[in-house]
Amino acid sequence: MKMRIFCGVAAIFSFAALAACSRATTGTAIPHLQKQGTATQLIVDGKPFLVLGGELSNNGPTSVEYMKPKWSMLAEAKLNTVLAGVSWAQIEPQEGKFDFRAPDGVIRDARSHNLRLVLLWFASWKNSWSSYPPDWVKKDFDRFPRVQIAGGKSIEVLSPFSDANRDADARAFAALMRHVKEVDGREHTVIMIQVENEIGLPSEPGEYRDRSPMAEKAYQGPAPKELMDYLQQQKDTLIPEFRQVWEAGGFKTSGTWEQVFGKGTATSEIFMGWNFARYVGRVAEAGKAEYPLPMYMNTWLLGFAKPNEPIRNSGTPMPDLMDVWHAGAPRIDIFSPDNATNFVTFCAKYTQSGNPLFIPEEEAGPEGAARALYAFGHHDAIAFSRMRGGVERRTTPDTALIEMYDLISQMKPLILGHQGDGTMSAVLLGPNDPPQKVKVGNYTVEGAFARSRLTAGAPAQEPVYGPVGNVSSPTAAAIFIATGPDEYYAAGNGVSVTFSPNTPGPPLAGLATVEEGSFVNGRWIPVRRLAGDDTAQGQHLNLRNMGIQRVTLYRYR
Ligand code: DGJ
Repeated sequence: MKMRIFCGVAAIFSFAALAACSRATTGTAIPHLQKQGTATQLIVDGKPFLVLGGELSNNGPTSVEYMKPKWSMLAEAKLNTVLAGVSWAQIEPQEGKFDFRAPDGVIRDARSHNLRLVLLWFASWKNSWSSYPPDWVKKDFDRFPRVQIAGGKSIEVLSPFSDANRDADARAFAALMRHVKEVDGREHTVIMIQVENEIGLPSEPGEYRDRSPMAEKAYQGPAPKELMDYLQQQKDTLIPEFRQVWEAGGFKTSGTWEQVFGKGTATSEIFMGWNFARYVGRVAEAGKAEYPLPMYMNTWLLGFAKPNEPIRNSGTPMPDLMDVWHAGAPRIDIFSPDNATNFVTFCAKYTQSGNPLFIPEEEAGPEGAARALYAFGHHDAIAFSRMRGGVERRTTPDTALIEMYDLISQMKPLILGHQGDGTMSAVLLGPNDPPQKVKVGNYTVEGAFARSRLTAGAPAQEPVYGPVGNVSSPTAAAIFIATGPDEYYAAGNGVSVTFSPNTPGPPLAGLATVEEGSFVNGRWIPVRRLAGDDTAQGQHLNLRNMGIQRVTLYRYR
């Protein structure tokens, strides 16, 4: 406590005090990514870390005063990490003159609430447009050119073809990373960085590439050798949708963009993807040269101009452009989906070619809660974070997400221990979805959307046999972890679960012991021993109310 009071006072007076102020310095390696089997884990203070996050509103972190009353609410919401924007315009109001008071306040206050941070670099592009560059960049459009669309009309988007734009952004980002290292290099409050935000050419119908003179010159020029060399090396593992485009042109390895990839919007998107990637890649490089924290990019997925008319920002790191982004921006560690309309599909698409799943912006409430469990259990996710306008703006507690984050925190040692080795999976089910089967350890586990309210989450004491589907959450989710040849932990909400052996021996599986309980500091504390009504007379498990159950199975014929 005495240390805390000293911290507060010191922080007001000097950065040095801020740098010295900390939890016991760990002296451990800086946050980094590490493989475990097929999974990639984020290591913080020497231990694997699951990000249970919430993203602040875009401009909340620009004001330490505005944020002051919010931190305790965020800590109470069972978050362990807050995603917070850093505005280029705010930290470099004059060229070469930096003011880090806002990010310093955010780092200090997050740290004093035992929260980690992911900083979001709002710089050249934010949701495609350039509203975050400093005024001295915005005003000098000759030195810092804009994208032009058909007819040569400039739009408020910095052109990715300008070295001046790129280098100004990279210099500022390097200054930020140098500063974060100074004030947090030992405490590791800041654990990861997002570079830019949902970039890509604004999706104007018909506009798929920058038409400025330097962009046109590049488009008429040869497809870069660097990209073609990368594609040849990765030819057998390229993402199918992208490979098809290249194959259609006969896998040419040289020529103009159109000669290699054909005429059409796909080529414009590949062209823009490559040039955005080169730009962002240099920015990330400059930042990592100062402080090599893991870095990712987020993507606004598909919007719809009209029903069935998907629109997307040209060049954005969508799954089918991930190879181009890997080639152009190798220092970006992860590509992330935001607010996926069809979550299951996009989680699968974004975990192709070893891309770890990091979800910065997602639903809140019951829907978000179900998606979080699925992301961690089915895709060994590193992070799940809700956004929906800004986590600090919520006026009532998000009970569903709080309960789910509490559940995941309880099971964290188990989840982290079983990532990447096929002994963990999860299902996500809507009321109209058929049951889902997943192979986990020695059994195939089948999860079905719980039809009756008794099993669907309504408290046991009010047995109401209601209509199809449950009222508390439109989506149900469950996680399954095999901790022994015939032992599992299962947890979630609104799912009934059955098991069938997938190894030689008696063909049928039955529920032997079923316990309901919780984990305290990683130790299983059983409460009730379940059978009868609570297991549908031994027919299946009923997962409800974010409950955890331990089950042992027996085989028979
Ligand atoms: C997605 C963006 O990444 C966020 O910054 C925010 O603009 C939301 N869309 C909308 O609130």
